[in-house]
Amino acid sequence: MFSERVQSLLSQMSFAEKVGQLRQCGPSLVGAFEVPFGELLDMMFDGRISEAEFGRLMATSSQDYREDEIRAGLIGSFNGVGNRETALRLQKLAVEESPHRIPLLFGYDIIHGFRTVTPIPLAESCAWDQELWQRTACMAACEGRSAGIHLTFAPMVDVAKDARWGRVSEGAGEDTLLQALHGAAKVRGFQGDSLNRPDTLAACVKHFAAYGAPEAGKDYNRVDMSPQRLYEEYLPPYEACIEAGARAIMPAFNEINGVPCSSSPRLLRSLLREEWGFTGVTVSDANAIAELVNHGVAADKAAAAYLALQAGMDIDMTSESYHEELVGLAVTDPVTARLLDEAAGRVLALKEELGLFANPYLVPEQSEADILLSAENRALAREAAQKSIVLLKNDDGILPLAKGARVALLGELGADRGEMTGAWAIGGRGDDCVSLLDAMQEEEPDVRYCSGIMEEVQDLASIDEAIQETDVVILALGEMKNQSGEAASRADITLPALQIERFRYVKAQGKKVVVVLFNGRPLAIPELAAEADAIVEAWHLGVEAGHALADVLFGRVNPSAKLTTTFPSSTGQCPIYYAHTSTGRPGGRSKFTSKYLDTPLEPLYCFGHGLSYTTYRYANLQAAQQGNDILVSVDIENTGDRDGEEIVQVYVRQLTAARTRPVKKLADFTKLFIAAGVQKRCNFVIPAEKLGYYDEELNFVVEAGEYRIFAGTSVENVLATDIELQI
Ligand code: BGC
Repeated sequence: MFSERVQSLLSQMSFAEKVGQLRQCGPSLVGAFEVPFGELLDMMFDGRISEAEFGRLMATSSQDYREDEIRAGLIGSFNGVGNRETALRLQKLAVEESPHRIPLLFGYDIIHGFRTVTPIPLAESCAWDQELWQRTACMAACEGRSAGIHLTFAPMVDVAKDARWGRVSEGAGEDTLLQALHGAAKVRGFQGDSLNRPDTLAACVKHFAAYGAPEAGKDYNRVDMSPQRLYEEYLPPYEACIEAGARAIMPAFNEINGVPCSSSPRLLRSLLREEWGFTGVTVSDANAIAELVNHGVAADKAAAAYLALQAGMDIDMTSESYHEELVGLAVTDPVTARLLDEAAGRVLALKEELGLFANPYLVPEQSEADILLSAENRALAREAAQKSIVLLKNDDGILPLAKGARVALLGELGADRGEMTGAWAIGGRGDDCVSLLDAMQEEEPDVRYCSGIMEEVQDLASIDEAIQETDVVILALGEMKNQSGEAASRADITLPALQIERFRYVKAQGKKVVVVLFNGRPLAIPELAAEADAIVEAWHLGVEAGHALADVLFGRVNPSAKLTTTFPSSTGQCPIYYAHTSTGRPGGRSKFTSKYLDTPLEPLYCFGHGLSYTTYRYANLQAAQQGNDILVSVDIENTGDRDGEEIVQVYVRQLTAARTRPVKKLADFTKLFIAAGVQKRCNFVIPAEKLGYYDEELNFVVEAGEYRIFAGTSVENVLATDIELQI
């Protein structure tokens, strides 16, 4: 099954060298501080040291790349080396000095841009734009390769329905179809048409599987769900990425129904390789193999290494379980030896596919400095940010701001460049970012600004001074970037009391308030929804955040993005998502229906919601079956006075089925440019197969019968018509 080169290498390599190919190390830090790196990170996150102090400690320490072990052929890959000079230097050691001259593979988390940081994936998903998703991945790949990287640990396609989970920020939201399309577009963008090029990266789709469904929204927590639900709602995005050609996949930290993904042959062999035909490499999540001991399915590291290898885990990211234990096991156990050959062979095959044997130093001709943050890349980051901004509320058309309006900006998040990168941008730098204040100052150098919204350092007098004689106050509210992302689950997703207090204070001064919300997850913001004049959802938009926001606020860009995740009215509603099944007692006015006593049934902002500076009217929805397809068409008229782009959404409900079905499920969508005053007819062809589901025995079935087809501007704002599907 492997090429001659790979087979020949395997026949010459020792067990230790084969295990080396499965060993992925992170640079370890040595030097000025004595605490381990993980502890140092913890100290920064829990506030014992500041971010600046952390940076200083990092800068005064040096990185240890275990060069002797590279020379001995005992390391196959690295995670986290993000610069060309170091990567090429280490590569030279491997290629010129290790016994079999096997090149190293460099992996890195390039989640939403490398140096040119683009919007967090949750934000960018709101563009509903596959071509954009692909282009930003393509740019990230080129930047990453220029820094000597070969493999990115992305895309993350974990369907996420619980806003408490901090990692909702890293994927495309709650919908299975959107996650699948977003993930596949990213894979195409990263990998291009060949990996053997100086501007593409291999994609490692993650976290397989259902990492986005931890109990209570708590990161790393158990996942317990029916196989039907797993197959229908959670697995398709991973499969779509494999179909798009992803060459690597990362098993998730979590267990599913009692079996940790890292030791599940059912997932990693039967499903992934046998059913889906995946031939690439599996890469464990960081330290996950050793964590099988914590899960309680392995007594020690040796048992963990054995379990993971037999399950089908190829690369051990940083746990050193394989390095410490596998040689001993392989010597005495022929099965382990055979599995080791298979796993090492797959890693070598990936290196071959990346062209590393022929040219281990392949990087773009231009220098890193010419590629990273080029004007062209910045322009794309700005476009992506513009297309990710969701206008949640806009009373009386207060936005775009009138020409000559006297405006003040309040709030640290409006000025803090470092906060614009979002939680997963390790190649990014705060200094590269344009804040909203920067962008506003470019237009009006004397624009008024005041902090004191996130922290109680400013007295109210400074706020009074900043807002006096202004017509509109732009209030930057939300979450700091480290409040979302990994290990950042929250049990309360409302805004802190001080932010609400400040908001109410400014409102009480009789000002119009436009809230610009920075956050990595949906927030429960009923106060703002009720009282703000406008709410602009800015997420974490990357290096061009400020420019893109100013473009929208001042009307140079007409916002078109729509939510890919439901905004709850309160934390207690979590998990809340649109594609739920109906209960026997759907929520209603009667007491004995499915609802809460103390919080509304409805979300604050529904899936698919997003306003524009123009308005659209939907009419004439028609649906008919043609062969195995359902043809849907609808008229959309731009009834306002601005050109705009509308994201037209089609949902389906099977009215009666053998199992309960979602009350609505996204079947298709398109983004349509419609000039002011113009009407367009929009046509969709939906294969009947998209309406199927998994029955009791886990067979995929498409049933004849009545279906309701919806088309509209959000999941709640739709037209509907019924069809009778014949099979
Ligand atoms: C995360 C992964 C990431 C890995 C390597 C882990 O903690 O779960 O998403 O790819 O670290 O940095």
